[in-house]
Amino acid sequence: MRASAPGKIFLFGEHAVVYGKRALVTAINLRCFAEVRKRYDFRISSPLGITGLDFEKHPYISYAIKRFLEVRKISGADVQVESQIPIASGLGSSAAVTVAVLKALDAEYEANLSNEDIYELARQVELDVQGIASGTDPFISTYGGCWLIPERKPITIPSLEFLVVDSGKKSITGEMVKRVAELKEKFPGVVGEIMDAIDEISQAAIATIPQMKLNSKLNSKLDSISSLMFINQNLLRAIGVSIPEIDEIVDQLNSMGVASKLTGAGGGGCVIGIGDVESMKRAKEKFKSAFIVKPEKEGARIEEE
Ligand code: PMV
Repeated sequence: MRASAPGKIFLFGEHAVVYGKRALVTAINLRCFAEVRKRYDFRISSPLGITGLDFEKHPYISYAIKRFLEVRKISGADVQVESQIPIASGLGSSAAVTVAVLKALDAEYEANLSNEDIYELARQVELDVQGIASGTDPFISTYGGCWLIPERKPITIPSLEFLVVDSGKKSITGEMVKRVAELKEKFPGVVGEIMDAIDEISQAAIATIPQMKLNSKLNSKLDSISSLMFINQNLLRAIGVSIPEIDEIVDQLNSMGVASKLTGAGGGGCVIGIGDVESMKRAKEKFKSAFIVKPEKEGARIEEE
């Protein structure tokens, strides 16, 4: 069976969501595909190589299989993975691969798991690999759509386009989350206030996002989102998860009229940007590696063979 699951972007609220604060997150139209066939032992093949169960080279896939074994005893499986989502880039590739593999295992071995079961298993896998995590990525990858987290409030998002620019450095989620936790332990009051401010940003954004249109330059909704992105980026910078490469991209995009911030854990990974049609076009021409993503409604699904 072949299954897929989408990646995601944090519009607002990464890191704060780890502490129960609100985040606004949408699935995107980039997917990870997993094909599972019955086999006498375990074989995992991905762009990273071919292995058996290997918790170093294929941690998310191997833990996904381990967690699946707790609900369904199987002696082996052939798991093949390919992805449209760049790895370690803040676009949710780890959760997408985990959810896609669980969905394909479920279908191939008729385990009859609900979406919530798949989410719960994927959440465990995220904790197995990362130690601390909010569960946002596996949730969005399983269900698709745009949500206010942790409330699980679905948000109607118009068909916006987001520019994505890769900083060229990898983002290691577990490491960044740990670093923020250490800073918070050292300065609980200061970092706590920053998390509260980020929480307010997500709340303010949900009043604006559903009415956004990107065809006009004089657009007060876009202005509001731009300001919120600017503040959120600078708060992320304040807790040490931005890097000079990201700051440089953000500054350039902002100066071109494209509001921007990092997305995901930071320390590397991608910047997202949003602006009117003309500014987006100019920014895309400037950053050769930039690409466009759109919000995606559909979560994990079985693909036609
Ligand atoms: O870097 P990503 O795409 O895995 O996102 C991490 C988001 C954090 O809020 C930093 C961690 C989490 O578990 O929510």
